[in-house]
Amino acid sequence: MSKTFSRASAISANHRHSHLQLCLLALFIVAAAISLPVAAQSIQVPQPSPGLMPNPAAGKALFEKSCASCHGASLQGSDKGPPMLSKIYEPSHHGDAAFQLAVKSGSRAHHWKFGDMAPVPGLTPDDVAQITAYVRLEQRKAGIQ
Ligand code: HEC
Repeated sequence: MSKTFSRASAISANHRHSHLQLCLLALFIVAAAISLPVAAQSIQVPQPSPGLMPNPAAGKALFEKSCASCHGASLQGSDKGPPMLSKIYEPSHHGDAAFQLAVKSGSRAHHWKFGDMAPVPGLTPDDVAQITAYVRLEQRKAGIQ
């Protein structure tokens, strides 16, 4: 009699255990479902207008206004930011998306010791595409491609 009883309580303990596991699993799935769209949103790259033909001359003016104070008027860098004419920023290492993301969300210091780059407000994705076209042109002239 006592044998049956202990087996029954063993089964119910087992059952409780698997119930707890199920609850944890459900909780995990709910947490993942909530956090996934947030993560996806934070890495969304701003897209320039379809069909935009980026114009380096327009980009130069925008760069001088919004980026040159740190990256240098001739992209040579300054005491506040790195040169864009560096192998580090060649297209295969920092693609055009890196420019869109740096302007929109800023960039944590990871290659240099200037500190973080803050987001630059007031520029549209089209503006950033123009700036990027200008930087790419100057990079090509400097043999960085
Ligand atoms: C207040 C200074 C400052 C301004 C203004 C600034 N930047 Fe930066 N930027 C930095 C610094 C510092 C870094 C380097 C971070 C590091 O150590 O990797 C950087 C890095 C970058 C990077 C590389 C991001 C990466 O993924 O590593 C890009 C691209 C960039 N800047 C583009 C721009 C553009 C385009 C503008 C103008 C719209 C601009 N920056 C304006 C300071 C600045």
